[in-house]
Amino acid sequence: MIKDNKFISKDFIDSQYAYMEKIKALNSEKKYALVETFGCQQNVADSQIIQGMLIEMGYQIVSEREKADIIIFNTCAVRENAENRVFGNLGALKKLKENNPNLLIGVCGCMVQQEHITEEIKNKFRHVDFVFGTHALYSFPKILYDVMIKQEFIYDITDSEGKIAEGLPVLRENDIRAYVSIMYGCNNFCTYCIVPYVRGRERSRKKEDVIKEVKELLENGVKEITLLGQNVNSYGKDLYDDYKFADLLKEIDGLDGEFLIKFMTSHPKDCSKELVDTIASSEHISHHIHLPFQSGSDSILKAMNRKYTIKEYTNLIDYVKLKIPDSVITSDIIVGFPGESDEDFEKTIELVENYDFDTLFMFVYSKRKGTPAEKMDNQVPKDIKDKRIQKLVETHHKCSERINKRSVGKILKVLVEEENDGVLIGRSTNGKLVTMPYKEGCLGGFFDVEITNSKMFSLEGSII
Ligand code: 5AD
Ligand code: SF4
Repeated sequence: MIKDNKFISKDFIDSQYAYMEKIKALNSEKKYALVETFGCQQNVADSQIIQGMLIEMGYQIVSEREKADIIIFNTCAVRENAENRVFGNLGALKKLKENNPNLLIGVCGCMVQQEHITEEIKNKFRHVDFVFGTHALYSFPKILYDVMIKQEFIYDITDSEGKIAEGLPVLRENDIRAYVSIMYGCNNFCTYCIVPYVRGRERSRKKEDVIKEVKELLENGVKEITLLGQNVNSYGKDLYDDYKFADLLKEIDGLDGEFLIKFMTSHPKDCSKELVDTIASSEHISHHIHLPFQSGSDSILKAMNRKYTIKEYTNLIDYVKLKIPDSVITSDIIVGFPGESDEDFEKTIELVENYDFDTLFMFVYSKRKGTPAEKMDNQVPKDIKDKRIQKLVETHHKCSERINKRSVGKILKVLVEEENDGVLIGRSTNGKLVTMPYKEGCLGGFFDVEITNSKMFSLEGSII
Protein backbone atom coordinates (compact mmCIF):
# COMPACT_ATOMS: atom_id res chain seq x y z
CA MET A 1 0.00 0.00 0.00
CA ILE A 2 1.32 3.46 -0.88
CA LYS A 3 1.13 6.34 1.57
CA ASP A 4 -0.10 9.14 -0.66
CA ASN A 5 0.01 12.12 1.70
CA LYS A 6 3.52 13.15 0.65
CA PHE A 7 2.60 13.77 -2.98
CA ILE A 8 1.63 17.26 -4.09
CA SER A 9 -1.80 17.20 -5.72
CA LYS A 10 -2.33 17.51 -9.44
CA ASP A 11 -4.54 20.55 -8.76
CA PHE A 12 -1.62 22.33 -7.11
CA ILE A 13 0.72 21.55 -10.01
CA ASP A 14 -1.99 22.73 -12.49
CA SER A 15 -2.28 25.99 -10.54
CA GLN A 16 1.49 26.51 -10.92
CA TYR A 17 1.20 25.95 -14.69
CA ALA A 18 -1.51 28.64 -14.67
CA TYR A 19 0.94 31.05 -12.96
CA MET A 20 3.58 30.18 -15.57
CA GLU A 21 1.05 31.16 -18.29
CA LYS A 22 0.24 34.42 -16.49
CA ILE A 23 3.93 35.33 -16.26
CA LYS A 24 4.36 34.50 -19.93
CA ALA A 25 1.59 36.97 -20.70
CA LEU A 26 3.33 39.63 -18.59
CA ASN A 27 6.62 38.97 -20.43
CA SER A 28 5.47 40.41 -23.75
CA GLU A 29 9.05 41.31 -24.79
CA LYS A 30 11.81 38.66 -24.98
CA LYS A 31 13.19 38.10 -21.47
CA TYR A 32 16.35 36.34 -20.30
CA ALA A 33 16.97 34.24 -17.19
CA LEU A 34 20.08 32.96 -15.43
CA VAL A 35 20.14 30.25 -12.76
CA GLU A 36 23.46 29.79 -10.93
CA THR A 37 23.81 26.55 -8.99
CA PHE A 38 25.97 26.07 -5.91
CA GLY A 39 26.43 22.67 -4.31
CA CYS A 40 25.57 19.08 -5.07
CA GLN A 41 23.88 17.15 -7.90
CA GLN A 42 20.53 17.41 -6.14
CA ASN A 43 20.77 21.17 -6.54
CA VAL A 44 21.75 20.76 -10.19
CA ALA A 45 18.61 18.63 -10.66
CA ASP A 46 16.46 21.22 -8.85
CA SER A 47 17.93 23.99 -11.01
CA GLN A 48 16.93 22.03 -14.11
CA ILE A 49 13.32 22.16 -12.86
CA ILE A 50 13.57 25.90 -12.10
CA GLN A 51 14.95 26.48 -15.60
CA GLY A 52 12.21 24.28 -17.08
CA MET A 53 9.64 26.48 -15.35
CA LEU A 54 11.37 29.68 -16.51
CA ILE A 55 11.25 28.46 -20.12
CA GLU A 56 7.49 27.78 -19.72
CA MET A 57 7.20 31.38 -18.51
CA GLY A 58 8.72 32.58 -21.79
CA TYR A 59 12.28 33.21 -20.62
CA GLN A 60 15.34 32.27 -22.60
CA ILE A 61 18.14 30.77 -20.46
CA VAL A 62 21.47 32.63 -20.67
CA SER A 63 24.81 32.31 -18.92
CA GLU A 64 25.81 36.01 -18.62
CA ARG A 65 24.63 38.01 -15.61
CA GLU A 66 24.69 41.27 -17.60
CA LYS A 67 22.18 39.93 -20.13
CA ALA A 68 19.68 38.52 -17.60
CA ASP A 69 16.30 40.02 -16.60
CA ILE A 70 16.11 37.56 -13.72
CA ILE A 71 18.96 35.93 -11.78
CA ILE A 72 18.37 33.08 -9.34
CA PHE A 73 21.02 31.58 -7.04
CA ASN A 74 20.27 27.99 -6.01
CA THR A 75 22.34 27.64 -2.86
CA CYS A 76 24.10 25.04 -0.70
CA ALA A 77 24.32 24.94 3.11
CA VAL A 78 26.61 21.97 3.70
CA ARG A 79 29.69 24.03 4.63
CA GLU A 80 30.29 27.61 5.67
CA ASN A 81 32.55 28.35 2.70
CA ALA A 82 29.70 27.44 0.30
CA GLU A 83 27.50 29.99 2.09
CA ASN A 84 30.23 32.63 2.04
CA ARG A 85 30.60 32.14 -1.69
CA VAL A 86 26.89 32.84 -2.15
CA PHE A 87 27.07 35.98 0.02
CA GLY A 88 30.09 37.18 -1.98
CA ASN A 89 28.29 36.61 -5.27
CA LEU A 90 25.11 38.24 -3.99
CA GLY A 91 27.10 41.33 -3.02
CA ALA A 92 28.43 41.51 -6.58
CA LEU A 93 24.84 41.67 -7.94
CA LYS A 94 24.19 44.99 -6.21
CA LYS A 95 25.90 47.01 -8.96
CA LEU A 96 23.94 45.16 -11.65
CA LYS A 97 20.67 46.02 -9.90
CA GLU A 98 21.69 49.69 -9.62
CA ASN A 99 22.36 49.77 -13.38
CA ASN A 100 19.15 47.88 -14.16
CA PRO A 101 16.43 48.43 -11.51
CA ASN A 102 14.11 46.05 -13.41
CA LEU A 103 16.44 43.13 -12.80
CA LEU A 104 14.80 40.53 -10.51
CA ILE A 105 17.07 38.69 -8.08
CA GLY A 106 16.05 35.53 -6.22
CA VAL A 107 17.80 33.14 -3.85
CA CYS A 108 16.59 29.58 -3.28
CA GLY A 109 17.78 26.20 -2.04
CA CYS A 110 19.24 24.75 1.14
CA MET A 111 20.95 27.86 2.49
CA VAL A 112 17.80 29.97 2.63
CA GLN A 113 15.78 27.14 4.20
CA GLN A 114 17.55 28.33 7.39
CA GLU A 115 15.71 31.25 8.95
CA HIS A 116 18.82 33.08 10.19
CA ILE A 117 20.16 33.24 6.62
CA THR A 118 16.90 34.58 5.19
CA GLU A 119 16.94 37.27 7.91
CA GLU A 120 20.51 38.18 6.95
CA ILE A 121 19.55 38.46 3.28
CA LYS A 122 16.51 40.59 4.15
CA ASN A 123 18.60 42.95 6.25
CA LYS A 124 21.91 43.14 4.39
CA PHE A 125 21.10 42.37 0.75
CA ARG A 126 18.20 44.66 0.02
CA HIS A 127 18.63 44.25 -3.73
CA VAL A 128 17.27 40.69 -3.43
CA ASP A 129 13.59 40.50 -4.51
CA PHE A 130 12.59 37.02 -3.41
CA VAL A 131 13.72 34.00 -1.43
CA PHE A 132 12.31 30.49 -1.38
CA GLY A 133 13.50 27.39 0.47
CA THR A 134 13.75 23.80 -0.73
CA HIS A 135 10.16 23.02 0.32
CA ALA A 136 8.76 25.87 -1.77
CA LEU A 137 10.46 24.89 -5.05
CA TYR A 138 7.11 23.81 -6.48
CA SER A 139 5.55 27.19 -5.68
CA PHE A 140 8.19 29.14 -7.59
CA PRO A 141 5.74 30.26 -10.35
CA LYS A 142 3.32 31.73 -7.77
CA ILE A 143 6.20 33.36 -5.85
CA LEU A 144 7.56 34.98 -9.01
CA TYR A 145 4.10 36.12 -10.09
CA ASP A 146 3.57 37.79 -6.69
CA VAL A 147 6.97 39.49 -6.97
CA MET A 148 6.04 40.88 -10.39
CA ILE A 149 2.56 42.05 -9.37
CA LYS A 150 3.18 43.29 -5.83
CA GLN A 151 6.70 44.59 -6.41
CA GLU A 152 7.68 43.84 -2.84
CA PHE A 153 10.10 41.41 -1.17
CA ILE A 154 8.50 37.94 -1.11
CA TYR A 155 9.82 34.98 0.79
CA ASP A 156 8.62 31.45 1.41
CA ILE A 157 10.73 29.26 3.66
CA THR A 158 7.87 27.02 4.78
CA ASP A 159 9.22 24.33 7.06
CA SER A 160 7.96 20.91 6.10
CA GLU A 161 8.69 17.22 6.38
CA GLY A 162 8.95 17.49 2.61
CA LYS A 163 6.76 16.60 -0.33
CA ILE A 164 7.13 15.28 -3.85
CA ALA A 165 5.87 16.96 -7.00
CA GLU A 166 5.54 15.17 -10.32
CA GLY A 167 4.90 16.65 -13.73
CA LEU A 168 6.95 19.86 -13.53
CA PRO A 169 8.94 20.89 -16.61
CA VAL A 170 12.68 20.07 -16.66
CA LEU A 171 15.43 21.58 -18.78
CA ARG A 172 17.82 18.80 -19.79
CA GLU A 173 21.18 20.46 -20.40
CA ASN A 174 22.99 17.47 -21.82
CA ASP A 175 22.01 14.95 -24.55
CA ILE A 176 24.24 12.20 -23.20
CA ARG A 177 23.95 12.41 -19.39
CA ALA A 178 20.95 13.04 -17.13
CA TYR A 179 20.04 13.05 -13.46
CA VAL A 180 16.90 11.40 -12.13
CA SER A 181 16.00 12.06 -8.50
CA ILE A 182 14.58 8.92 -6.95
CA MET A 183 14.18 10.23 -3.42
CA TYR A 184 14.63 13.37 -1.41
CA GLY A 185 15.67 14.23 2.15
CA CYS A 186 17.55 12.30 4.79
CA ASN A 187 16.65 10.62 8.10
CA ASN A 188 20.15 9.86 9.27
CA PHE A 189 21.00 12.98 11.26
CA CYS A 190 24.77 12.61 11.12
CA THR A 191 25.67 15.05 13.88
CA TYR A 192 27.67 17.43 11.63
CA CYS A 193 25.14 17.61 8.79
CA ILE A 194 22.58 20.28 8.00
CA VAL A 195 20.88 18.30 5.21
CA PRO A 196 18.08 16.66 7.25
CA TYR A 197 17.12 20.13 8.57
CA VAL A 198 17.00 21.84 5.18
CA ARG A 199 15.74 19.04 2.96
CA GLY A 200 13.33 17.26 5.29
CA ARG A 201 12.66 13.58 5.85
CA GLU A 202 13.34 10.75 3.41
CA ARG A 203 10.65 10.37 0.80
CA SER A 204 10.73 8.26 -2.33
CA ARG A 205 9.21 8.88 -5.72
CA LYS A 206 6.88 6.13 -6.91
CA LYS A 207 8.73 3.47 -8.85
CA GLU A 208 6.40 3.94 -11.86
CA ASP A 209 7.30 7.64 -12.06
CA VAL A 210 11.03 6.92 -11.84
CA ILE A 211 10.92 4.18 -14.47
CA LYS A 212 8.77 6.28 -16.81
CA GLU A 213 11.31 9.12 -16.61
CA VAL A 214 14.24 6.76 -17.20
CA LYS A 215 12.50 5.17 -20.20
CA GLU A 216 11.77 8.58 -21.75
CA LEU A 217 15.40 9.62 -21.34
CA LEU A 218 16.65 6.41 -22.95
CA GLU A 219 14.19 6.85 -25.81
CA ASN A 220 15.64 10.33 -26.31
CA GLY A 221 19.14 8.89 -26.69
CA VAL A 222 20.52 9.59 -23.21
CA LYS A 223 23.32 7.12 -22.42
CA GLU A 224 24.15 7.73 -18.78
CA ILE A 225 21.57 8.21 -16.04
CA THR A 226 22.52 9.00 -12.46
CA LEU A 227 19.88 8.13 -9.87
CA LEU A 228 20.00 10.74 -7.14
CA GLY A 229 19.17 10.82 -3.47
CA GLN A 230 20.89 11.80 -0.22
CA ASN A 231 20.75 8.15 0.75
CA VAL A 232 19.64 6.04 -2.23
CA ASN A 233 19.94 2.78 -0.28
CA SER A 234 16.84 3.80 1.66
CA TYR A 235 14.78 4.08 -1.53
CA GLY A 236 11.26 2.72 -1.12
CA LYS A 237 11.36 2.20 2.66
CA ASP A 238 8.80 4.98 3.19
CA LEU A 239 6.51 3.75 0.40
CA TYR A 240 6.65 0.01 -0.06
CA ASP A 241 6.77 -3.04 2.18
CA ASP A 242 8.82 -5.16 -0.18
CA TYR A 243 10.38 -3.02 -2.89
CA LYS A 244 13.91 -1.79 -2.25
CA PHE A 245 16.64 0.12 -4.06
CA ALA A 246 18.09 -3.16 -5.38
CA ASP A 247 14.66 -3.95 -6.90
CA LEU A 248 14.51 -0.57 -8.62
CA LEU A 249 18.03 -1.09 -10.00
CA LYS A 250 17.11 -4.56 -11.27
CA GLU A 251 14.03 -3.20 -13.02
CA ILE A 252 15.97 -0.38 -14.69
CA ASP A 253 18.81 -2.74 -15.59
CA GLY A 254 16.26 -4.89 -17.43
CA LEU A 255 15.34 -2.07 -19.85
CA ASP A 256 16.50 -2.37 -23.48
CA GLY A 257 19.38 -0.41 -24.97
CA GLU A 258 23.02 0.45 -24.44
CA PHE A 259 23.22 2.68 -21.37
CA LEU A 260 24.88 3.12 -18.01
CA ILE A 261 23.18 3.58 -14.66
CA LYS A 262 24.97 5.36 -11.86
CA PHE A 263 23.70 6.31 -8.43
CA MET A 264 24.64 8.46 -5.51
CA THR A 265 24.93 8.67 -2.56
CA SER A 266 25.08 5.39 -0.65
CA HIS A 267 25.32 5.21 3.11
CA PRO A 268 27.63 2.35 4.14
CA LYS A 269 25.24 1.25 6.91
CA ASP A 270 22.52 0.56 4.32
CA CYS A 271 24.64 -0.84 1.49
CA SER A 272 23.51 -4.45 1.55
CA LYS A 273 25.22 -7.51 0.09
CA GLU A 274 22.12 -7.90 -2.08
CA LEU A 275 22.81 -4.47 -3.58
CA VAL A 276 26.45 -5.39 -4.29
CA ASP A 277 25.30 -8.69 -5.87
CA THR A 278 22.77 -6.80 -7.98
CA ILE A 279 25.51 -4.52 -9.33
CA ALA A 280 27.83 -7.47 -9.90
CA SER A 281 25.30 -9.39 -11.99
CA SER A 282 23.88 -6.39 -13.86
CA GLU A 283 24.42 -5.42 -17.44
CA HIS A 284 24.04 -1.64 -17.17
CA ILE A 285 24.99 -0.58 -13.64
CA SER A 286 28.25 1.29 -13.26
CA HIS A 287 30.98 -0.43 -11.25
CA HIS A 288 31.72 2.86 -9.55
CA ILE A 289 30.38 3.06 -5.98
CA HIS A 290 30.57 6.18 -3.88
CA LEU A 291 30.68 5.11 -0.23
CA PRO A 292 31.53 7.96 2.14
CA PHE A 293 33.27 6.74 5.30
CA GLN A 294 33.89 10.24 6.79
CA SER A 295 36.47 9.12 9.39
CA GLY A 296 38.80 6.17 10.01
CA SER A 297 38.20 6.24 13.76
CA ASP A 298 35.39 4.29 15.42
CA SER A 299 34.98 6.78 18.27
CA ILE A 300 34.62 9.67 15.80
CA LEU A 301 32.16 7.64 13.70
CA LYS A 302 30.13 7.12 16.85
CA ALA A 303 30.18 10.82 17.69
CA MET A 304 29.14 11.49 14.07
CA ASN A 305 26.19 9.08 14.49
CA ARG A 306 27.27 7.13 11.40
CA LYS A 307 26.10 3.74 12.78
CA TYR A 308 28.94 1.56 11.41
CA THR A 309 32.45 0.69 12.52
CA ILE A 310 35.56 0.78 10.36
CA LYS A 311 35.67 -3.03 10.49
CA GLU A 312 32.14 -3.16 9.06
CA TYR A 313 33.09 -0.61 6.42
CA THR A 314 36.24 -2.43 5.30
CA ASN A 315 34.35 -5.75 5.30
CA LEU A 316 31.88 -4.13 2.92
CA ILE A 317 34.66 -2.82 0.66
CA ASP A 318 36.30 -6.27 0.68
CA TYR A 319 32.98 -7.80 -0.36
CA VAL A 320 32.58 -5.25 -3.17
CA LYS A 321 36.11 -6.00 -4.43
CA LEU A 322 35.46 -9.74 -4.23
CA LYS A 323 32.21 -9.60 -6.20
CA ILE A 324 33.17 -6.76 -8.56
CA PRO A 325 36.94 -6.99 -9.13
CA ASP A 326 37.08 -3.94 -11.43
CA SER A 327 35.01 -1.81 -9.05
CA VAL A 328 36.08 1.74 -8.32
CA ILE A 329 35.35 3.04 -4.84
CA THR A 330 35.24 6.74 -4.02
CA SER A 331 34.54 8.36 -0.69
CA ASP A 332 34.01 11.51 1.37
CA ILE A 333 36.11 12.35 4.43
CA ILE A 334 35.77 15.05 7.06
CA VAL A 335 38.83 16.11 9.07
CA GLY A 336 38.72 18.06 12.31
CA PHE A 337 35.35 16.82 13.58
CA PRO A 338 34.99 17.85 17.27
CA GLY A 339 37.13 15.64 19.51
CA GLU A 340 39.27 14.26 16.67
CA SER A 341 42.70 13.53 18.20
CA ASP A 342 45.97 13.02 16.29
CA GLU A 343 45.43 9.29 16.82
CA ASP A 344 41.92 9.41 15.32
CA PHE A 345 43.22 11.36 12.34
CA GLU A 346 46.06 8.88 11.78
CA LYS A 347 43.43 6.12 11.52
CA THR A 348 41.87 8.04 8.63
CA ILE A 349 45.29 8.31 6.96
CA GLU A 350 45.84 4.56 7.48
CA LEU A 351 42.54 3.71 5.80
CA VAL A 352 43.38 5.91 2.81
CA GLU A 353 46.83 4.32 2.50
CA ASN A 354 45.58 0.75 2.80
CA TYR A 355 42.52 0.89 0.56
CA ASP A 356 42.41 2.04 -3.05
CA PHE A 357 40.09 5.02 -3.20
CA ASP A 358 40.11 6.41 -6.71
CA THR A 359 38.71 9.77 -5.81
CA LEU A 360 38.31 11.30 -2.38
CA PHE A 361 36.29 14.35 -1.53
CA MET A 362 38.10 15.72 1.49
CA PHE A 363 36.53 18.38 3.70
CA VAL A 364 37.45 20.38 6.76
CA TYR A 365 34.70 20.10 9.36
CA SER A 366 32.46 23.15 9.25
CA LYS A 367 30.19 24.08 12.16
CA ARG A 368 26.53 24.13 11.07
CA LYS A 369 24.00 26.06 13.12
CA GLY A 370 21.42 23.84 14.80
CA THR A 371 23.31 20.54 14.41
CA PRO A 372 24.40 18.51 17.48
CA ALA A 373 28.11 18.84 16.59
CA GLU A 374 27.84 22.62 16.71
CA LYS A 375 27.32 22.38 20.45
CA MET A 376 30.15 19.91 21.13
CA ASP A 377 32.72 21.64 23.33
CA ASN A 378 35.82 19.89 21.98
CA GLN A 379 36.05 21.76 18.66
CA VAL A 380 39.38 21.33 16.85
CA PRO A 381 41.39 24.56 16.35
CA LYS A 382 41.62 25.88 12.77
CA ASP A 383 45.41 25.51 12.46
CA ILE A 384 45.22 21.80 13.35
CA LYS A 385 42.34 21.26 10.91
CA ASP A 386 44.37 22.98 8.17
CA LYS A 387 47.45 20.81 8.83
CA ARG A 388 45.35 17.65 8.79
CA ILE A 389 43.60 18.40 5.50
CA GLN A 390 46.95 19.18 3.91
CA LYS A 391 48.42 15.87 5.05
CA LEU A 392 45.32 13.97 3.92
CA VAL A 393 45.35 15.56 0.46
CA GLU A 394 49.07 14.80 0.05
CA THR A 395 48.55 11.19 1.14
CA HIS A 396 45.70 10.74 -1.29
CA HIS A 397 47.62 12.28 -4.20
CA LYS A 398 50.43 9.77 -3.69
CA CYS A 399 47.88 6.91 -3.66
CA SER A 400 46.06 8.24 -6.77
CA GLU A 401 49.18 8.03 -8.91
CA ARG A 402 49.80 4.48 -7.75
CA ILE A 403 46.16 3.44 -8.34
CA ASN A 404 45.90 5.03 -11.78
CA LYS A 405 49.15 3.42 -13.01
CA ARG A 406 47.49 0.02 -12.61
CA SER A 407 45.05 0.80 -15.42
CA VAL A 408 47.81 1.25 -18.02
CA GLY A 409 47.66 -1.53 -20.60
CA LYS A 410 44.06 -2.40 -19.75
CA ILE A 411 41.07 -2.04 -22.03
CA LEU A 412 38.19 -0.08 -20.49
CA LYS A 413 34.72 0.54 -21.85
CA VAL A 414 34.31 4.31 -22.06
CA LEU A 415 31.33 6.56 -22.72
CA VAL A 416 32.68 9.47 -24.80
CA GLU A 417 31.01 12.54 -23.36
CA GLU A 418 32.78 15.67 -24.60
CA GLU A 419 35.15 17.05 -27.18
CA ASN A 420 37.59 19.78 -26.25
CA ASP A 421 40.30 21.14 -28.54
CA GLY A 422 40.77 17.93 -30.51
CA VAL A 423 40.62 15.74 -27.41
CA LEU A 424 37.75 13.42 -26.50
CA ILE A 425 36.84 13.18 -22.81
CA GLY A 426 34.84 10.39 -21.26
CA ARG A 427 34.32 8.14 -18.27
CA SER A 428 34.89 4.42 -18.13
CA THR A 429 31.91 2.35 -17.01
CA ASN A 430 33.65 2.08 -13.63
CA GLY A 431 33.95 5.83 -13.33
CA LYS A 432 37.52 6.69 -14.40
CA LEU A 433 38.15 9.90 -16.31
CA VAL A 434 39.75 9.11 -19.69
CA THR A 435 41.07 11.42 -22.43
CA MET A 436 41.54 10.20 -26.01
CA PRO A 437 42.72 11.68 -29.34
CA TYR A 438 39.75 12.88 -31.42
CA LYS A 439 38.05 10.33 -33.62
CA GLU A 440 35.11 11.15 -35.92
CA GLY A 441 31.65 9.94 -34.87
CA CYS A 442 32.53 8.79 -31.38
CA LEU A 443 30.80 11.46 -29.28
CA GLY A 444 27.92 9.97 -27.26
CA GLY A 445 28.90 6.33 -27.80
CA PHE A 446 30.48 3.53 -25.75
CA PHE A 447 33.89 2.38 -27.00
CA ASP A 448 36.64 0.03 -25.92
CA VAL A 449 39.65 2.16 -25.07
CA GLU A 450 43.20 0.96 -24.56
CA ILE A 451 44.80 2.87 -21.67
CA THR A 452 48.26 4.03 -22.67
CA ASN A 453 49.25 6.44 -19.89
CA SER A 454 48.14 7.53 -16.43
CA LYS A 455 48.15 10.90 -14.70
CA MET A 456 47.29 11.78 -11.12
CA PHE A 457 43.59 12.38 -11.78
CA SER A 458 42.97 10.87 -15.21
CA LEU A 459 43.96 8.25 -17.75
CA GLU A 460 44.98 8.61 -21.39
CA GLY A 461 44.05 6.10 -24.02
CA SER A 462 43.01 5.49 -27.59
CA ILE A 463 39.79 4.15 -29.01
CA ILE A 464 40.23 0.68 -30.45
N1 5AD B 1 31.48 19.99 7.46
C1 5AD B 1 32.28 19.44 6.53
N2 5AD B 1 31.86 18.54 5.63
C2 5AD B 1 30.57 18.18 5.67
N3 5AD B 1 29.86 17.30 4.92
C3 5AD B 1 28.58 17.32 5.35
N4 5AD B 1 28.44 18.17 6.38
C4 5AD B 1 29.66 18.72 6.59
C5 5AD B 1 30.16 19.66 7.54
N5 5AD B 1 29.41 20.21 8.46
C6 5AD B 1 30.46 16.49 3.86
C7 5AD B 1 30.31 14.99 4.14
C8 5AD B 1 29.27 14.57 3.14
C9 5AD B 1 29.56 15.52 1.98
C10 5AD B 1 28.47 15.68 1.01
O1 5AD B 1 29.80 16.74 2.64
O2 5AD B 1 31.55 14.37 3.86
O3 5AD B 1 29.40 13.22 2.74
FE1 SF4 C 1 24.06 14.40 5.82
FE2 SF4 C 1 24.50 11.99 6.91
FE3 SF4 C 1 22.20 12.45 5.57
FE4 SF4 C 1 24.52 12.30 4.21
S1 SF4 C 1 23.56 10.62 5.37
S2 SF4 C 1 22.91 13.88 3.95
S3 SF4 C 1 25.98 13.20 5.64
S4 SF4 C 1 22.85 13.43 7.49
